[in-house]
Amino acid sequence: MKAIVQDRFGPPESLRAADVDLPEPGPGQVRVRVRAAAVNPYDWHMLRGDPYAARLTPGVGLTRPKSRVAGIDAAGLVDAVGAEVRGLRPGDEVLGFCPGSFAEYALTTPERLVPKPEGLTFEQAAAVPVGAVTALRGIRTVGRVRAGQRVLVNGAGGGVGTFAVQTAAALDAEVTGVCSTGSADLVRSLGAAHVVDHTREDFTEGSRRYDVILDNVGNHPPARLRRVLTPTGTLVANGGGSPGHVFGAMGAMLRVMALNAFVRQQLRVILPAVPAGPVHEDLLAVIAFIGSGQLAPVVDRTYALSDAAEAVRHVERGHARGKTVITVP
Ligand SMILES: NC(=O)c1ccc[n+]([C@@H]2O[C@H](COP(=O)([O-])OP(=O)(O)OC[C@H]3O[C@@H](n4cnc5c(N)ncnc54)[C@H](OP(=O)(O)O)[C@@H]3O)[C@@H](O)[C@H]2O)c1
Repeated sequence: MKAIVQDRFGPPESLRAADVDLPEPGPGQVRVRVRAAAVNPYDWHMLRGDPYAARLTPGVGLTRPKSRVAGIDAAGLVDAVGAEVRGLRPGDEVLGFCPGSFAEYALTTPERLVPKPEGLTFEQAAAVPVGAVTALRGIRTVGRVRAGQRVLVNGAGGGVGTFAVQTAAALDAEVTGVCSTGSADLVRSLGAAHVVDHTREDFTEGSRRYDVILDNVGNHPPARLRRVLTPTGTLVANGGGSPGHVFGAMGAMLRVMALNAFVRQQLRVILPAVPAGPVHEDLLAVIAFIGSGQLAPVVDRTYALSDAAEAVRHVERGHARGKTVITVP
């Protein structure tokens, strides 16, 4: 089968197309015929082995990538199931977490898949897993957003942000989205009552206070963010960072967790949904929001599988609007 492989740590140019063996599902595994795969910052982190400290964690690899085929988000059709798999049959349309999704076929487990909502194309469906589950966790699980609360989403125009704005709006919060000029109309259309253009204004200097801040960018120190939180507000830190760091966003998130012990406000981080960890309940919640019309993926750009390196490069630049998706013929 055709796949995009990464033989060494490096920039997006290290990705190349190759013919690799068709993966065989084990007894508890499902093989998915991938029709579309979304790109996440996770992909360039894994490709570069960045931040360097992350290479010490399981699944990344110390000197070379542990996973040869790139990608994690996928939508497609169930192609084959292992002997112990129940409830999924070849031909079922699914979306979910499929390590190695930049390929014609990828293996996963049943609890990392859910049925593809009927109204979504495969490209839209592939955009859902990491972005929507992270947004759900940031807004509902960790941020505990309630109706009427003031919620600020920093990085509102990106892959997580576009889902987070909609999720907070669906919970009847008053949402402020922080994005660049070009994404302002999009963010408003997703349910933000207010938009702050970060190219013209610094929200940490404003007079408005927020009950919950979901920070997808990491461009302000916690002290600045706490300034615009209510006295009992919650800061949810979710990554950020650019290539070439020892600790990167990991360091910033550890600092947030450490600081939490000393302040009245709640300073939290989002537990990653990848590479492992339970995701089924969150995926079901997300497709329920989609089914009720409260959540819709925003796909800004699509690339052919052979252009996967360009797609990853686009996301790595840090200014993606909505999700970037690779189509798999
Ligand atoms: N904890 C987890 O499990 C988890 C899961 C997924 C993602 N993440 C992390 O969350 C972060 C966001 O992910 P993503 O998928 O949303 O990334 P993304 O799609 O690349 O979006 C990033 C967004 O940040 C915006 N941005 C850049 N500079 C900004 C600034 N100064 N102020 C406000 N917005 C700014 C960009 O938009 P503009 O063009 O408008 O500037 C872009 O839309 C990444 O660091 C990622 O690694 C963590």
